[in-house]
Parts: sequence; C-alpha cells; structure tokens
Amino acid sequence: MPQQPPLPDAPILTLDLADWNAATPDEGWIAALEAGKVLYFPHLSFAFGDAERAALLRPELLAQGSRNISLNAQGELKGAAGDAATQQLAAEVIGRFRQQAQALVHGLLPSYTPFLRLAPTSLRPAQVESRVQSWRADDRRLHIDAFPSRPNYGERILRVFANVNPHGEPRVWRVGEPFEDVARRFLPRARRYARWQARALRSLRVTKTLRSEYDHLMLQLHDGMKGDADYQANAPQQTMPFAAGSVWICFSDQTPHAVMAGQFMMEQTLHLPAERQYNVQSSPLAILTRLAGHPLV
Ligand code: SIN
Ligand code: FE
Repeated sequence: MPQQPPLPDAPILTLDLADWNAATPDEGWIAALEAGKVLYFPHLSFAFGDAERAALLRPELLAQGSRNISLNAQGELKGAAGDAATQQLAAEVIGRFRQQAQALVHGLLPSYTPFLRLAPTSLRPAQVESRVQSWRADDRRLHIDAFPSRPNYGERILRVFANVNPHGEPRVWRVGEPFEDVARRFLPRARRYARWQARALRSLRVTKTLRSEYDHLMLQLHDGMKGDADYQANAPQQTMPFAAGSVWICFSDQTPHAVMAGQFMMEQTLHLPAERQYNVQSSPLAILTRLAGHPLV
C-alpha cells in the first residue's frame, strides 16, 4: 500500500453535466479549477459513430514516429497514417471534438471566451503502459506541463480531455498536491536563471523566443518533479481512473498529473492570458512571482 501523506483537500470535483452545450458558470467550480483542481464529468462523453470508431480508434492510425494525431488551428491534420478518406474522417471527428470542447469551456468560463487562443486538438491512440520514453518526456511521472522550446510568459494551459476508449478501459491518472506546495518544495533546488543562457538558447534556436525567468522556473519544477523518485513515490497524490466515455478539464500547467494507464484519448488545449482569470492571484505566474519576490516576465 502506498504511504503518501494525504492531500490537503480533494483534488477532483465531480460534476453531473451530460450535455456539451448546457454548461453554465458556477463560482465554486471556477474557483476550484483556478485553484488547480480537476473538474470531472463522468456523464459527458464524446460520441463516435460505428464507422468512425472502426476507422479511427486503431493504434495503426498513428504515423510512424508520431506521438499523437493532431489537428492544428489552421485545420491541418498531422501525425496520421491511412488513406485520404481515413485522414479526412479523422480531421472531421477531431474537429467535432474541438467544437464540443470549446462549447464546454465557453459555457463554464464565459469571461475567458474572448481571450482564449486555440492550440492543436489531439487524438492519442497509443497505449500508455507500453510507451518507451526518456524520464523528461515520461508523462507517467507526476509533473506540471512546461515546454522547453515554447516560452509562454505565464500564459495558461487549459486542457479538455476525453477518454474515448472503445473497450471500457479507464485512463488512470495520479493527481498531486497544490501548485504552491510544489513550488515551495522545488524552488529552493532550482538552478538560477541566467539571461545570457536564455539568449544563447534563442540564438541556437532551442527556444522560439527568449525564455523568461518564469519559463525557466516552470521547467525547473517540471524536471525537478520528474527527476525525483522519492517525490514520485511519496508525494501527496490521488490515483484517479477516468472512466471510458468521460471528460475532465484542468489547468495542466498548475495541476500535478501523471498518466499511468489507458489508450485512446482526445485532448483540446486552450491558452489564456493569466491576467484574464477570474482570480488572477491563483495563477502559477502570480504564485511564483510572490515566492520569488521579483517580476519573472
Ligand atoms: C499529460 O501528461 O499531459 C498527458 C496526460 C495523458 O496522456 O492522459
Ligand atoms: Fe502533462
């Protein structure tokens, strides 16, 4: 039995919603989401037609060397194998998920709507348990999302996930402690930010734009968590099987998460400027700035 200390309070809120277009804003849910909790919708599912399911929910649909199949904001499909008709169908179905995910977020969080920036929508047919990855890329380790090549200066990463497994298999996550606890634990061990290094990374095109101190610290937290076996085993956490035919959302730059098992998921990423949150003080940027004692972007 794991001996992890308990989380200060439940990291997952379960909601009854069963219709993608019927979400309405609720102060309590919004505060919970912005505090880093996961909103779980066990009765909300993304529906496939029989022909769509047969054509698309197959691991062979993933092109060799690709991690996911994705539809970018311009509507182009990437990472899919298969003939033109299959690819067309994949683009249609992923596009339909995008519409529904956006409707859900607009309904739940209407004041975000004008400020959201659409990122790619993905279909992930790979089986989690058998994926082979370096420790840094291994999402089976608890982490917060932070990307080495794309500095975001505090912009939020809001994600809508749907378990579309056709065999009834859950997608099993671990969900970790509040972001501020992560930050207090790992900031003292973080390497110092050096602007000359950030400039060098940009001139070498390791980063697309200058890595800010915020982006540096987020990567230090990401790597600090993933690289610490004791933290992985013993940090406060809850294991959560998200049922086949369910949906959940969280700010994945804030909520520590790890995926332990499952296959076939769809995911929509939406970006939000941190200053457009309902409670600006709850963002990773605000928390890290407060702990660091100086501006980070
Ligand atoms: C992630 O860590 O963002 C991936 C989660 C998943 O694949 O379920
Ligand atoms: Fe992640």
